[in-house]
Amino acid sequence: MLVQAYNLIAHAFLLFLLFPYIISTNIHDCKQTERSSLRSFASTLSSPPLNWTSIDCCRWKGITCDQDGWVTRLLLPSKGLKGGISPTSLANLTHLTHLNLSHNSLYGSLETRFFLFLNRLEILDLSYNHLSGELPLSLPSSNIRIVDLSSNHFFGSIPSSFFHQGSNLTSFNVSNNTFTGYVPSSICVHSSPSLRLLDFSSNVFNGSLAPGLGKCSKLQVFRASHNNLSGLFPEDIYNATKLEEIALPLNSLHGPISDKIVNLTNLAILDLSFNHFGHDVPLNLGKLSKLKFVTFDFNNLEGVLPPSLMNCTNLVELRLGSNNLEGDISMLDFSRLSQLTKLDLRMNNFTGTIPVSLYSCSSLKAIGLASNHLEGQIEAEILSLKSLSFLSLSYNRFTNVTGAMKILMNCKSLHALSLAGFYEGEGMPSDDDMVDFDGFQNLRALNLANSNLYGQIPVWLSKLKNLEILLMDGNQITGPIPSWLGTLPRLFYISLRKNRISGEFPKQLCRLPRLLHEPIASQLDQYEFELHIFPNTIANQTLTQKLYFYPTTIDLSENNIVGDIPTEIGQLQLLQKLDLHSNNFSGVIPNQISNLKNLEVLNLCMNHLSGIIPSSLASLHFLKEFNASYNNLEGPIPTGTQLQSFNTSSFDGNPKLCGAPLPNKCRPNKDTDADNKNNKDEGNGHQQLPWFYIFTVLGFIVGFWGVCGSLIINNTWRYAYFQFMDNLKDRLYVMITIRINTMKIRLRD
Ligand SMILES: *[C@@H]1O[C@H](CO)[C@@H](O)[C@H](O)[C@H]1NC(C)=O
Ligand SMILES: *[C@@H]1O[C@H](CO)[C@@H](O)[C@H](O)[C@H]1NC(C)=O
Ligand SMILES: *[C@@H]1O[C@H](CO)[C@@H](O)[C@H](O)[C@H]1NC(C)=O
Ligand SMILES: *[C@@H]1O[C@H](CO)[C@@H](O)[C@H](O)[C@H]1NC(C)=O
Ligand SMILES: *[C@@H]1O[C@H](CO)[C@@H](O)[C@H](O)[C@H]1NC(C)=O
Ligand SMILES: *[C@@H]1O[C@H](CO)[C@@H](O)[C@H](O)[C@H]1NC(C)=O
Ligand SMILES: *[C@@H]1O[C@H](CO)[C@@H](O)[C@H](O)[C@H]1NC(C)=O
Ligand SMILES: *[C@@H]1O[C@H](CO)[C@@H](O)[C@H](O)[C@H]1NC(C)=O
Ligand SMILES: *[C@@H]1O[C@H](CO)[C@@H](O)[C@H](O)[C@H]1NC(C)=O
Ligand SMILES: *[C@@H]1O[C@H](CO)[C@@H](O)[C@H](O)[C@H]1NC(C)=O
Ligand SMILES: *[C@@H]1O[C@H](CO)[C@@H](O)[C@H](O)[C@H]1NC(C)=O
Ligand SMILES: *[C@@H]1O[C@H](CO)[C@@H](O)[C@H](O)[C@H]1NC(C)=O
Repeated sequence: MLVQAYNLIAHAFLLFLLFPYIISTNIHDCKQTERSSLRSFASTLSSPPLNWTSIDCCRWKGITCDQDGWVTRLLLPSKGLKGGISPTSLANLTHLTHLNLSHNSLYGSLETRFFLFLNRLEILDLSYNHLSGELPLSLPSSNIRIVDLSSNHFFGSIPSSFFHQGSNLTSFNVSNNTFTGYVPSSICVHSSPSLRLLDFSSNVFNGSLAPGLGKCSKLQVFRASHNNLSGLFPEDIYNATKLEEIALPLNSLHGPISDKIVNLTNLAILDLSFNHFGHDVPLNLGKLSKLKFVTFDFNNLEGVLPPSLMNCTNLVELRLGSNNLEGDISMLDFSRLSQLTKLDLRMNNFTGTIPVSLYSCSSLKAIGLASNHLEGQIEAEILSLKSLSFLSLSYNRFTNVTGAMKILMNCKSLHALSLAGFYEGEGMPSDDDMVDFDGFQNLRALNLANSNLYGQIPVWLSKLKNLEILLMDGNQITGPIPSWLGTLPRLFYISLRKNRISGEFPKQLCRLPRLLHEPIASQLDQYEFELHIFPNTIANQTLTQKLYFYPTTIDLSENNIVGDIPTEIGQLQLLQKLDLHSNNFSGVIPNQISNLKNLEVLNLCMNHLSGIIPSSLASLHFLKEFNASYNNLEGPIPTGTQLQSFNTSSFDGNPKLCGAPLPNKCRPNKDTDADNKNNKDEGNGHQQLPWFYIFTVLGFIVGFWGVCGSLIINNTWRYAYFQFMDNLKDRLYVMITIRINTMKIRLRD
């Protein structure tokens, strides 16, 4: 008994002693060489520490080893790593299969050496870093499956030899760099038949898309948007029948979109917007039953919409704006498009009425029909679109604006409503029309411009507490600007240009809450419209769908407004555009305008303003446009300010104004007189400004050469030098490693 117990204890004790050993052999200690490679990699990084301190590197964060203690995975995405990537250290991790260093701040280039020994690498993700330089001559290994180098600063063309080892490559993403040269479209012919995903977007690739993609029999996603591609749509792409997405927007491609596209039966996304494609929309496009996103806007397509499109029951977005399409759309039957959320047919030549069948597309969020030749009235059935958030019907031949507003005010989800330019000569929907008004509660943008609407600015507008953009320019509005306009809590863009508005500039307008104080970051309006609201002025799509990017604006120009520009205007610190031209404003230009530090456009021309131009205007550093012509201004144009950089036309028609940029010189004593008369304390500013100016210019020159000079040197001399050295180093390296390998082989033998 006792002996047995003793034995048991002894065994237990032995087990206890051996325990750490058993554990550690299971965890397979990392190899000494691997550890030193990793340490040397870590040593080139600055903050934050990787905490790689223990002996066993296989247990370090981000590291995975195989049975034998070779490091197989190095995964450190989004770790805030900064510093130069060290090619020498990583090159020694010869068993690496997965390398993911994406979303860090690494810089440096991928030298050929870096790739030379990583010949087991399967996955390489270096996206979202600051890496630069040209691509190495070849992929690291024939096992490579995924290469993501997107969102870096790589440049140069992709070497033709690059894909020689790419037989297993399925995914290649180099978007958002500055690559040049041709898109390597023959990639599947010679090297990589297994490709599923190719992304060349947002680079400066040019030339046409050479044939070859048709051989990518497994290709699912092909993106090359936002490059300088030209030429025709490659014919053989219609042979790549696995394609689910083709995205080529923002290029200069032209020619027809062939009906052969019906071969791509898996296609769900087809984005060809912002190109020069012409001819008809393929007649049988609608046979592609999986289509979800069809984006053809800003091309030169013509002819009618193929009825077959109405068979694409999976369609989510149909965007055909800004083409030359025509035909009666009332005949189209939208009733089967139950997934449709966005329909954009703006800026075409469509005729007919709004198709009644459209009202059964219950998912619709955005309808853009502006700038066509449509007619008729808005029907109450439109209210069955419960998600409708964006409606643009401007510039057609619709009638009955009041009727339309009375219907649409009950559309609870509406955020943007554009009814400009087609209700020629009707009355402004008045307060009598809109009795018991409590509609439009979510409306952020209202466009009633260019309709010759007569009447006053109606009070019901004061109930639109979410209104941010109000356009009523180009009408026949009479009466004063109501003071309640200044109380709309979210309003930051007002255009009342070209009406017959009278009365004074209401002081209350200078209290518009959105223009008073810098918003707290979290309040920044991230709202995005479903479609862009000013399509014809804008080539920058993404920009103008975001509400936040619209400039803060007060445009009261071309009216009959009288009196002074109120000094309270200085409170509107966030105002970017103030246009008061062609009114009857009198008095002086208030000094307080210089408080509008964000002002970019100031137009005061064609009024009766007198006195001097306050030199404090020089503090408006963002001013890009300034016009004070055709007033009664006098005295010198403040010198040494950016006011001098504007054209003389900004000052013309003020006979008593003098000094550069006007040709007439100022007479010294008279100048100071005029200056003193208006603003005593401004003389000082005058004296100092030339020096301030000189220092600014000097600073600019020094800064320019500091930054750009070194860049220029970088790109020419240093570049040539490093290329030479790199070549030399690479050659030496190859020679040495060959030696070592042959030595290893001899030892083994
Ligand atoms: C990489 O390996 C070579 C040869 O085995 C060695 O000379 C070098 O020191 C190693 N580099 C690092 C960083 O471990
Ligand atoms: C290293 O340890 C510090 C302190 O524990 C920690 O703040 C930091 O996030 C760690 N670094 C990494 C990469 O895990
Ligand atoms: C790299 O890591 C990030 C973050 O975990 C992940 O989203 C990404 O898919 C990884 N890359 C690859 C190619 O697996
Ligand atoms: C592709 O990778 C597999 C291992 O994943 C490998 O066996 C094969 O040799 C590779 N193909 C080629 C052509 O190199
Ligand atoms: C390529 O990478 C970018 C990020 O840089 C990403 O937005 C894009 O979706 C990727 N392309 C594909 C086809 O996955
Ligand atoms: C493009 O790359 C830069 C640099 O990595 C990055 O900051 C930016 O977010 C990327 N843009 C997109 C759209 O992914
Ligand atoms: C598409 O493939 C067929 C047969 O696979 C071939 O005959 C034809 O030439 C290809 N088309 C193009 C444009 O390459
Ligand atoms: C379309 O597909 C058929 C077979 O599905 C094929 O014979 C034909 O060559 C393809 N046409 C084109 C233009 O790729
Ligand atoms: C729509 O599909 C139906 C059958 O699903 C077919 O009969 C009809 O011809 C198609 N219409 C068009 C215009 O292609
Ligand atoms: C619309 O058609 C007219 C002729 O009816 C033509 O002059 C005009 O250029 C067309 N507009 C567009 C945008 O296609
Ligand atoms: C305008 O529309 C309203 C509402 O649909 C309707 O009641 C009215 O009769 C219409 N007026 C005219 C002149 O068609
Ligand atoms: C749109 O504007 C943004 C911000 O100004 C800019 O970064 C981007 O390159 C522009 N896009 C195009 C297509 O011009």
